[in-house]
Amino acid sequence: MSLAIVFSRALVGIQAPLITVEVHLANGLPAFNLVGLPEASVREAKDRVRSALVNSGFEFPAKRITVNLAPADLPKEGGRFDLAIAIGIIAATYQLPPAQLHALELVGELALSGEIRPISGALPFTFACLEAKRSAILPFDNAAEAALIQGAQIIPAKQLLDVFHHIVGQKTLTYFQAKNVVQAPRYDTDLQDVVGQSSAKRALEIAAVGGHNLLFTGPPGTGKTMLASRLITILPPMNDAEALASAAIHSIVGKPVDPATWKQRPFRHPHHTSSAVALVGGGSIPRPGEISLAHHGVLFLDELPEFDRKVLDVLREPLESGMVSISRAARQAQFPASFQLVAAMNPSPTGSLQDGRSTSEQVLRYLNRISGPFLDRIDLQVDVPKLASNEFAEEVKNRGDSSEVVRQRVMQARQVQLKRAGKPNAQLGSKEVEKYCHLNQHDQLFLQSAVEKLGLSLRTYHRVLKVARSIADLQALKDVQRPHLAEALHYRAFDRMLAQLARN
Ligand SMILES: Nc1ncnc2c1ncn2[C@@H]1O[C@H](COP(=O)(O)OP(=O)(O)OP(=O)(O)O)[C@@H](O)[C@H]1O
Ligand SMILES: [Mg+2]
Repeated sequence: MSLAIVFSRALVGIQAPLITVEVHLANGLPAFNLVGLPEASVREAKDRVRSALVNSGFEFPAKRITVNLAPADLPKEGGRFDLAIAIGIIAATYQLPPAQLHALELVGELALSGEIRPISGALPFTFACLEAKRSAILPFDNAAEAALIQGAQIIPAKQLLDVFHHIVGQKTLTYFQAKNVVQAPRYDTDLQDVVGQSSAKRALEIAAVGGHNLLFTGPPGTGKTMLASRLITILPPMNDAEALASAAIHSIVGKPVDPATWKQRPFRHPHHTSSAVALVGGGSIPRPGEISLAHHGVLFLDELPEFDRKVLDVLREPLESGMVSISRAARQAQFPASFQLVAAMNPSPTGSLQDGRSTSEQVLRYLNRISGPFLDRIDLQVDVPKLASNEFAEEVKNRGDSSEVVRQRVMQARQVQLKRAGKPNAQLGSKEVEKYCHLNQHDQLFLQSAVEKLGLSLRTYHRVLKVARSIADLQALKDVQRPHLAEALHYRAFDRMLAQLARN
């Protein structure tokens, strides 16, 4: 009897749980059985593995072959186990030394020729190998991405035969040495592209400082889309842990991660016709959606009222928790989704409140497409007004600071927050708000009466305080003061618009 055990890993959410590939060869009628709840694609592995072995010059054993992928209750998809199964069969046939095998983990899909094809999720795989203190044998094309995991032992391979030679010590494969040089962030756009709109730019800077969600409202052609797309250019780059988490999500949807730019925050801009599944994730094998691809970055929803209200409402939960759970009949997966939301819209279905082309009833119906609880999660609501043509000529000279200059200010203010609370202001819980955004009695009364006048919720009260905290941080001030509160309250343009419509 000959038995071989080889290690590989599945992909569940952004986790890579261990899969033990057991291969047993017995005498009897030749057969090839794969057990352990494999799906159709794993069953196809039988044909690929058989051809790859034969075309690599191995004899396919004329025995009863049983391959078990354990644990049986884990879902397994794709061709990622091909390489481990093939090596398992070779190991059982030629009695390869178990000690060599057990220091390794293997993933890779096999071509019929024996060539090793890239897989998705190389990053979670490599990370798990590092934790298990085993070397990672993976497809050559995945090596650069895997090398983002510092300290991992990465052995890229192109051919099944090369892996065999490596294990028996005939011709060892070389460990991959990354020559990654992380570039300073570079963007094609700049805040200075936007003429005037200094107050909207100021709000954008405050949003960047505290990681606040922001909504631009205003008539057509005033620069809302331009401004929102430039938020990404003034945000601080991600730290190592954030960049890894973001890259892991991109890795499992098969989007290659570029080691040179991997610390730039992601910017996702889904169209308003996007389905709920595209936005939050899903599918029979749960896959992350736009909100997870925007993890630690920006999700931009342009023309907000054009999104299906139901679709927007499924964002409420992840907006609060920074996570999304996807349940399908048999499976469940959790994906991180801690993103900064920036949205833009016209204040009326015809574009402008002043054009006289829609009644207040029509405007209200239009604005009501965005539910109250969704709006509650937006910290800054900013009006982007139309410039008169003579003003535009004036303003062309007025372009404010470049993205680079603003980003430096943002990074300084972010440092203060991370030192104080370990997180950006937008993510402070209500206890932390009380602790870090302390007001004197007069200012407390001032804020309370302002909030009442606007008819705002308690959640909004806290949000205004957090925005005021970010404004104070921009000035490197220890305490939140009256002017900060007044400015934060100024960024409630949508609430004011609703209040005014209700009065009419
Ligand atoms: N402040 C500005 N500075 C420079 N260009 C501007 C400005 N505002 C508008 N533009 C010009 O107008 C075009 C439209 O701007 P943008 O798409 O940002 O408008 P918008 O406010 O999003 O309009 P809509 O409500 O129709 O979506 C830009 O491509 C740009 O050429
Ligand atoms: Mg626009």
